[in-house]
Amino acid sequence: MSSQQRYTITAALPYTNGPVHIGHLAGVYVPADIFARYQRMRGSDVAFICGSDEHGVPITIKAKKEGITPQELVDRYHKIIGDSFKEFGITFDHYGRTSSTEHHNTASAFFTKLYNDGKFIEQVTEQLYDPEADQFLADRFVVGTCPKCGNTESYGDQCEKCGTSHNATDLIDPKSAITGNTPELKETKHWFLPLDEYSDWLNEWIVEGHSKDWKANVLGQVKSWITDGLHPRAVTRDLDWGIPVPVEGADGKVLYVWFDAPIGYISATKEWAAREGKNWEDYWKKDDTKLLHFIGKDNIVFHCIIFPAMLKAHGDYVMPDNVPANEFLNLEDDKISTSRNWAVWLHEYLEDFPGQQDVLRYVLTANAPETKDNNFTWKDFQARNNNELVANLGNFVNRVIVLTNKYYDGIVPETANLAQRDLDVLKQIKAFPKTIGDSLDRYRFREALQELMNLSSIGNKYIAEEGLEPWKLAKTNPEQVQNIMYVCLQLTTALAILSEPFLPHTSTKLKNMLNLKECHTEPVEVPRSGWNRVASDEPLLPSNHKINKAELLFSRIEDEQVTAQLEKLEATKAANAATTPNLMPQKDETNYDDFMKMDLRVGEILTAEKMPKTDKLMVMTVDTGIDKRTIVSGIAQHFSAEELVGRKVTVLANLAPRKLRGVESQGMILLAEDPEGKLVFVNPDDAVVNGATIA
Ligand code: MF3
Ligand code: ZN
Repeated sequence: MSSQQRYTITAALPYTNGPVHIGHLAGVYVPADIFARYQRMRGSDVAFICGSDEHGVPITIKAKKEGITPQELVDRYHKIIGDSFKEFGITFDHYGRTSSTEHHNTASAFFTKLYNDGKFIEQVTEQLYDPEADQFLADRFVVGTCPKCGNTESYGDQCEKCGTSHNATDLIDPKSAITGNTPELKETKHWFLPLDEYSDWLNEWIVEGHSKDWKANVLGQVKSWITDGLHPRAVTRDLDWGIPVPVEGADGKVLYVWFDAPIGYISATKEWAAREGKNWEDYWKKDDTKLLHFIGKDNIVFHCIIFPAMLKAHGDYVMPDNVPANEFLNLEDDKISTSRNWAVWLHEYLEDFPGQQDVLRYVLTANAPETKDNNFTWKDFQARNNNELVANLGNFVNRVIVLTNKYYDGIVPETANLAQRDLDVLKQIKAFPKTIGDSLDRYRFREALQELMNLSSIGNKYIAEEGLEPWKLAKTNPEQVQNIMYVCLQLTTALAILSEPFLPHTSTKLKNMLNLKECHTEPVEVPRSGWNRVASDEPLLPSNHKINKAELLFSRIEDEQVTAQLEKLEATKAANAATTPNLMPQKDETNYDDFMKMDLRVGEILTAEKMPKTDKLMVMTVDTGIDKRTIVSGIAQHFSAEELVGRKVTVLANLAPRKLRGVESQGMILLAEDPEGKLVFVNPDDAVVNGATIA
């Protein structure tokens, strides 16, 4: 007998500076929960771990704005977020928080071990400093242009557009997020993890070792970082909110939030193990443990490069077996944004659609951004609910339960002389645990859910097939009706069991309707080994078992409900437009001579082509009047090649050439950027000749 497979399943610790929205649920928490539930049902030994990420600059900025302490802020959102997860049936075994004592101790000890083992480089470097705010500008305290993709609103530690993680001093044209000032450089001491030393090992472990089983979007990012070259990363910061650096001479310094947060998975496991009488080390240090990190794509570098390097430096830990990161979910064709309030917040969804948690779980899984960014629309939400949940799953189950009650007083009928068709369906049912499981094992949640719905379709088809409509047959051929109803009840029971990871609330209702408690030995709420039972030869629901009455599983979503949601979003748009736009402050004074050094001219875009393997970069040939040259610009997400070709544009012709992904860009085209980050053309008149100068 093989022993139980042990899984440590982590879901990204959400930042506690706001509530959670559908993007979080779709990208991380629903797939993680499906996987955890599925593994528990297969009898695996699962630790499903999450918690609040309570450090980091955004939390201090937000607390300051609201005039409260960071601790007060994180207390508030720790509760709100935790409640949302519970409502949506996310079954974390433990939901910790990084302000807990256990976490502070664990993270400090981790740092100390690496420090004592000489794993850090200690270095005095010049860091960005805002003299007016009297503060070093770490991470989100500084905004500037991303050196990789040209996004002008990159943060000090990470560019949200291209996902690159960098040092604040790498930013082009940095500005303090506190005062808008151009920062100075000031010396300060920090500890760095030399990621470059882990490059070969990472390459071997991930790029060579996991090229088959890790997702392409994850491998793509990892490869690109390794090829671009890894650099030492500071793991400490000059800030006052966080975990104090536990060495001498580090006053006023804390651990970098991305150093402490992933250790939060470990401290949360410790808290859970202490409570449950388990040994936490089994879940982190035993070679046969499968460690999985469920995250969104902006977290890939931290979970595939930095945290593994930390674990490797420490030496005692297992490496993740997989990091099934998702891409992003958009809302009605626009990027979800907390600051623009462009989101469906979970606590608001629950007010508008009480009791319909599973509908959202369903739609977010069916439409999950598994391989590329995806779009959530209320129309699609309505259509999937009405056409799939109501018309397929709900309809089948309701017919079966109602008819069983009507014709057989709720007693599962006996069978006699099952026809080939009946036997076929019974056989088909048994194949589903494997079919759905195979998809889940490969982290294909959309596919797995589709299979579950196929099972329900089989049931509908079976009932509807000519002549098989039980209420017509009841009089002429009662034996055949009994057989059909028996088979349908087996199929319904399979649905009750196999839907549990995806639609837990629905599954519970189904189990109640079927009165499974009376005939299945495992607990109804969390069947520990229910998954494979569906494939066994035992009847899923024996003859003579008594079921309960039908309950409503799903109800139609009406047009008015969709309209109300769309109006709410329209109102958000209007409110955003009405608030004074967050314009860039005027730049520092310049002088006439400096301005005249710029060679600005009218040019024309002759060709445009997206640079392969990038999302943002557009490679263009531009006729500047004096020559035809290549200009690379990070605008591919704003304009298509067709929109660009033939346009007159203003060109900064004498900008020093710069290489972007190996292609030399000889100049820059000028565009207007609105406060929302949208790029707009500022077109010279079409009649102006190429090469005309602008001043
Ligand atoms: N708080 C981070 C985010 O929301 C995720 C942290 S994941 C952990 O992007 F690994 F650090 F825990
Ligand atoms: Zn970037």
